Amino acid sequence: MTKTEEYKRMAAEAAVEAVKPGMVVGLGTGSTANYAITRLAKLLKSGELTDIVGIPSSVPTNDLASSLGIPLSTFADHAKIDITIDGADEVDPDLNLIKGGGGALLQEKILAQASLRVVIIVDEGKLSDKLGTRFPLPVEVVPFGLHTEKRFLEGLGAKVTLRENVIAKPFRTDHRNLILDADFGPIEDVRALAEKLEHRAGVVEHGLFLGIATEVVVGGKNGITRLKKNG
Ligand code: A5P
Repeated sequence: MTKTEEYKRMAAEAAVEAVKPGMVVGLGTGSTANYAITRLAKLLKSGELTDIVGIPSSVPTNDLASSLGIPLSTFADHAKIDITIDGADEVDPDLNLIKGGGGALLQEKILAQASLRVVIIVDEGKLSDKLGTRFPLPVEVVPFGLHTEKRFLEGLGAKVTLRENVIAKPFRTDHRNLILDADFGPIEDVRALAEKLEHRAGVVEHGLFLGIATEVVVGGKNGITRLKKNG
């Protein structure tokens, strides 16, 4: 296992300690979230944790969690999620995030906004002073608007790439939409950018998660660091 993978696993396992019997747990997407899901399954299997249900943020997460025997549920049965544990692509000092590297940003944001607590798990390489420095911003668009949304993002100053899957075909989200990866470089005003994207028809969701994380658990060479909202 590389150091980065080890840091991700450490962060995931530290975050899972907050999960208690009776909780509804939002299950994130991506390689770091997968460590948390694997850990939850292990604790359930050994009997150290009981009586939880997970709400998955994507088809791959649903498949992994159900294959490991985690009981799953939906918003039809639960109005609120007690805790969501998810990864991120980039984290700034205010705990704002870029997410969507795995393409699940829409459902991840729905889960996070319905959660009492949102715990983000990352390796220390994901921390940055300004979002956009390390990772392009994923923007989910409806296929009909692809070309015009691409030009719109370019007009805002981004270099834009249509995301492809492993066989070099356009990547489709769980909702059959497309992802434009918009490289703005370091973003000066994340709230202003988020607002512009939110007013644009054709943009289904964007990967700026602002004021959503309640805490970030960081794995790194010095062990675990816990960053909390408002200090
Ligand atoms: C999925 O859409 C993303 O938001 C992921 O949570 C994010 O890309 C982090 O993924 P990794 O844990 O694989 O780096």
